[in-house]
Amino acid sequence: VVSRKPLIAGNWKMNLDHLQSVALVQKLHWALKDAKHESDTVEVALFPPFTDLRTVQTLVDADKIPFALGAQDISAHDSGAYTGEISGAFLAKLDCSYVIIGHSERREHHNETDEVVASKVQAALRHGVVPVICVGETAEDLEKFGASAVPVGQLKIALENVPATGDIVVAYEPVWAIGSGQAATPEQAQDVCATLRSVVAETLGADAAERTRVLYGGSVKSNNIASFMREPDVDGALVGGGSLVADEFAAIIRFQK
Ligand code: G3P
Repeated sequence: VVSRKPLIAGNWKMNLDHLQSVALVQKLHWALKDAKHESDTVEVALFPPFTDLRTVQTLVDADKIPFALGAQDISAHDSGAYTGEISGAFLAKLDCSYVIIGHSERREHHNETDEVVASKVQAALRHGVVPVICVGETAEDLEKFGASAVPVGQLKIALENVPATGDIVVAYEPVWAIGSGQAATPEQAQDVCATLRSVVAETLGADAAERTRVLYGGSVKSNNIASFMREPDVDGALVGGGSLVADEFAAIIRFQK
C-alpha cells in the first residue's frame, strides 16, 4: 500500500498584497518552528496571488521554510500574444510545484468550462507543475443529482489525455461549503473523495489512484480538520479563509497534535 503524504494547501484567493504576504509567511513560520513544520508528515503548500509569488518564493528560499508554492490559475497557452495570461513556464521558473485549476470561483465568474479546465491541466503537465484539479457541486446540483454526479463528470473531462504517469491532485470542494461556514460532514467528504479516486482508477489506472491525493475543501478550520483527515480517502485539505490567519492555519497544519 502506497502511503500518501497529506497535503494542506492554503488558497489565499484575492487576499494579501506582496507586503502582507511577507508578514503572513513569517508568522506562520514562527508558529510552526518548534514543530519543525511537521514537514516529514505533512506537506504544506501556499497559493498566493500571482503578484506575491516572487516575494513568497524569495522568503521561503532564503529562510529554508519547507512550504511548497503554487499558483491559483494558469494559462492554457505556453507563450505569446495572450495579454494578461500567465504561462506555466513562468510558474515553473518561480518554483511553483502546484497550480489550482478549475476552482468553482473561476468556473462561476470567469466562465471556465470543463474543456478550458482540461486544457489548463494539459498546460500544467507540459511544464511539470502539478495541477490541483478542483471539482464540486452547487447546492442546486446536490438537490437535483446528489453529491457525486457533477464532480465525477467534471473530473472525467479534466483527466482526458492525462497519461497514467501524470502527477495530479484532486480537490473536492462542494460549492455550498466554500466560505459558508457550513462544511460537508466527514462522511460526505469521504464518500465523494472515494468516488473521485475510483474515477482516477478508471481513467489513469490503479497505481495512479493509489498515489493521487484527493483533498477536501470548504470551510475547513482547525476545529474540524482532524475529523476530515481521519477519513481514508481524504488526503488533505484545500483551505481558503482558514489559511489567511497564521495561528489558525498553523493549527490546521498541526491537525494530528
Ligand atoms: O479553495 C479553497 C476554498 O474554496 C475553500 O474556502 O474559505 O471555505 O476554506 P474556505
